[in-house]
Amino acid sequence: MASVLVTGGAGYIGSVTVDLLIERGETVVVLDDLSKGHADAVNDRAAFVRGDIGDRDLVRGLAAEHDVTSVVHFAGLIAVGESVADPLRYIDVNVARSANMLAACVDAGVGQIVFSSSAAVYGTPDGVPIPETHPVRPSSPYGWTKASFETMLGYADAGYGLRSVCLRYFNAAGATPQRWERHEPETHLIPNVLAAAADPTRSVSVFGDDYPTPDGTAIRDYIHVEDLAAAHLVALDHLAGGGPSERLNVGTGRGFSVLEVIESARRVTDRPIEVRMSGRRTGDPPILVADSAAVRSLGWEPQRPALDDMIESAWRRFGG
Ligand code: UFG
Repeated sequence: MASVLVTGGAGYIGSVTVDLLIERGETVVVLDDLSKGHADAVNDRAAFVRGDIGDRDLVRGLAAEHDVTSVVHFAGLIAVGESVADPLRYIDVNVARSANMLAACVDAGVGQIVFSSSAAVYGTPDGVPIPETHPVRPSSPYGWTKASFETMLGYADAGYGLRSVCLRYFNAAGATPQRWERHEPETHLIPNVLAAAADPTRSVSVFGDDYPTPDGTAIRDYIHVEDLAAAHLVALDHLAGGGPSERLNVGTGRGFSVLEVIESARRVTDRPIEVRMSGRRTGDPPILVADSAAVRSLGWEPQRPALDDMIESAWRRFGG
């Protein structure tokens, strides 16, 4: 039976996507080296292989053994700051190993790939909402690696007819009853805000209050992880229906500032949450909000766009 190979299926967004694929009856194989992911986040009904996406023989063998017809490629490193400090590590995983994975897909005759790209490909945008036609000019090695793999996928389509959808994620947030965000160290805003809510000895740092925004703090387009995961199924269906390769923003189209996120968390948790103002984090753009008309035209709509709901779903993990 045809199956979907999910690389990085033990991670935050990957594990939720695997759940949705299995729920709708797909056969799923997860490939994850567990360098960041968690084995207990992999759905019991998926076949799980611990291994390296850069191992071309392994990926080719898996694709043949499981009759893989499409791949969802999540596996990769995700921290912008870390990519500035150690760019070659990011190039190794997100470009070189990913290129081996792609070559194995071509070897095995995989016809379709959905790729976890990022709003980081745009760098600091000229304006918001950001359409997909906005120039790609990443301002970090991380964003560059995402843009590079997008380019490789474009060449793979032209050269081998391997069609793909690059989903340019905005800010994934929230949790499902089974899966949640577990990064080590945690750099993301919402888990850090909730950690400060859960532990009164902790505070949350606000990175910059002098941005050109109404309250001076940076604005992001937060999207519930379940909505983000659902976009992968829409992308797979688009490709399965013979649709052409696409690059699609995935966000709700609504932005919230850092202070609005903290206010929402105070409401949801009913805890005070101590805040420390600190300087801007290098490389953070002031405002990122998606123009998501293109993915909506494929039939995707966010079902859980309310920030309080995203934060509440994440708070349950802290016993809330
Ligand atoms: N922030 C704080 N305090 C924190 C953590 C974050 O003030 O403790 C601020 C950041 O400066 C930023 C906003 O909250 O303005 C959101 O920060 P996150 O780290 O949660 O998310 P980013 O927008 O920096 O990063 C996300 C993804 C990246 C992706 C990027 C696209 O995690 O993988 O969006 O630009 F590259």
